[in-house]
Formats: sequence, structure tokens, C-alpha cells
Amino acid sequence: MKTTAAIAILAAAATTSYAAPAKRAVTDTDILQYALTLEHLENAFYHQFLGQFDAAAFKNAGFPDWVRGRLENIAEHEAQHVALLSGALGSAATQPCEYQFPGVTDPKSFAATATLIENVGVSAYLGAASSIVEKAYVTVAGSILTTEARHQAWLNSAVEKNSAWSGPEDTPLDFDEVYSIASAFIKSCPSTNPTLPVKAFPALTIGEDGTVSTSASTDGTYVQVIAGLTSNVFPVVNGKVQGLPNPQGISYAVLTTQGNNTLVGDDNIVAGPVILNNPFNSKQSNPAPAF
Ligand SMILES: *[C@@H]1O[C@H](CO)[C@@H](O)[C@H](O)[C@H]1NC(C)=O
Repeated sequence: MKTTAAIAILAAAATTSYAAPAKRAVTDTDILQYALTLEHLENAFYHQFLGQFDAAAFKNAGFPDWVRGRLENIAEHEAQHVALLSGALGSAATQPCEYQFPGVTDPKSFAATATLIENVGVSAYLGAASSIVEKAYVTVAGSILTTEARHQAWLNSAVEKNSAWSGPEDTPLDFDEVYSIASAFIKSCPSTNPTLPVKAFPALTIGEDGTVSTSASTDGTYVQVIAGLTSNVFPVVNGKVQGLPNPQGISYAVLTTQGNNTLVGDDNIVAGPVILNNPFNSKQSNPAPAF
């Protein structure tokens, strides 16, 4: 078993090469504002839907009592993250925006969306870590990151009955990738909010049959799948991605003009990321994806 896993990992290392998310000309203040932007979103998400779906709604959806109780805990944590980051930023702290969560219609879709939002939160803190200059902030960000990871694990396993992990490593995303996902949930923000050095790429969807949908041209593009610390590209031919794998758990895909497996940088991203979610059987092995 051990040998098999080791070979798979070596194979993964041979076919993909990992580079840390590009260092950006962002300051620690930018990173705090960026983290606060995401925490405001999470805080609003939990408070809106816990306000909308009461204990009876959760019961009707088939959830035991403790599910809503622990979601209340998570909502408190997100409020505390907002308070912590706002406290560090003082009067300059970015303020909450107006949000939209179109897929959330009941406690089930609320929990399923919460899993994905927490996963993006983990990817965001992980991707930002290497850009933080002040060591003390690394500890603060790390303490939020590990908690968000346990929110995600609890939601995906205890609530969704899936795995508490996606693989041996979580997936870091860079600022623009995370902002691209978050911006789909943001309707409008106060004009007084600080402008962050981040941009959103066009939205991307990939159909069951591999059909790539985006406002950008798909000519000469590839879909790069990013799962843990590995990445690989799959060509798009006549608007359909060829041979797209199903990496276990939650991973991401972007549309890119880059035809090699090196982790794609922002300059080569055309659209996305899109979140891929492939539940896997508990009896299946779970090495780093070798694609
Ligand atoms: C992969 O493609 C990018 C973009 O075209 C290029 O900058 C990079 O050098 C390539 N990497 C390898 C290992 O070929």
C-alpha cells in the first residue's frame, strides 16, 4: 500500500510542477482588507440564512438539531473574524457589501453552499500566506485558516456525509482567483470601501459533457485543474474540454491559454475558477491526484 502511494506521489511530481502562488505587490494592509472582504461575505451568508431557516425548517429538511446549532457557532466565528480583522484595520476597515446567493433556497442548499464557501476560505488564506510580511499576521491568519478548515470538514463530513478532506494537501488559490469566485456573490459595495489590487476573471462553467461556457473566447484554450499542490491541463476542442478528470473531493479549474502543467499564473487565466466537487467512496485510496 505504502509503495503504491509513494509511486503515485512520485508520478504526480513527475507530471506536474508546483510553484507557490505568485508573490504580488500587495501590502499586509491589502491582505487584511482582502481577508475582511471574504469574512464579511461569510458572516452575511450565515446570518442571512440562519435568519431565514429556523429550527423547524432544518427539521423538515431532515437534519438533526445539532446541525443548526453548530451552524450558529460557525456564524459566531465568522462575526468574530470580522471583528478581529476590523479591529486591526481600525477606521480604514472595509465595510460589508450587498450579497446574492442565488443557489440557496433551503437548509440543504445552504449547507452545501457553506461547504464550498468554507473551502474557498481555506484556499484564500493558504494562497495569501506566502505574501504576508509581518510574522504576527501569519499566526493570526493561520489560526483563522485552521478553524475554517474544520468548519469545512465538519460540513462536508458530518452534515453532507462526504469526506472531511479532498486529499493530502489543500489547494491554495491566489488573490484574483479567490476574488473571481467571491465576486459572483457580491452585488455592490459601499463606494467608500478601499480599492484592492485584485480583479475578477470572467465566470466559467463546465457542463457534464465537458462543454465550456464563458464570455471569453475558448479558441486555443485549455482547462487547468488545480487540486492540492498539483495541476494539469486538458485541451478545449470545439468548445468542449477533452479528458477532464474527476479529482477526489473539491478542486478548482480555470480556463487558460497555457498548454503546460505548470501552475497557471494570473496573466494566462482566461476565465474561472470553477469549483469541482467530486465525492468519493470511503474505500477508495486518496493520494495526491496524479491526473
Ligand atoms: C508554461 O507556459 C507558460 C505560459 O506560456 C510559460 O511562461 C512557462 O515557461 C511554461 N512552462 C514550462 C515548464 O514549459
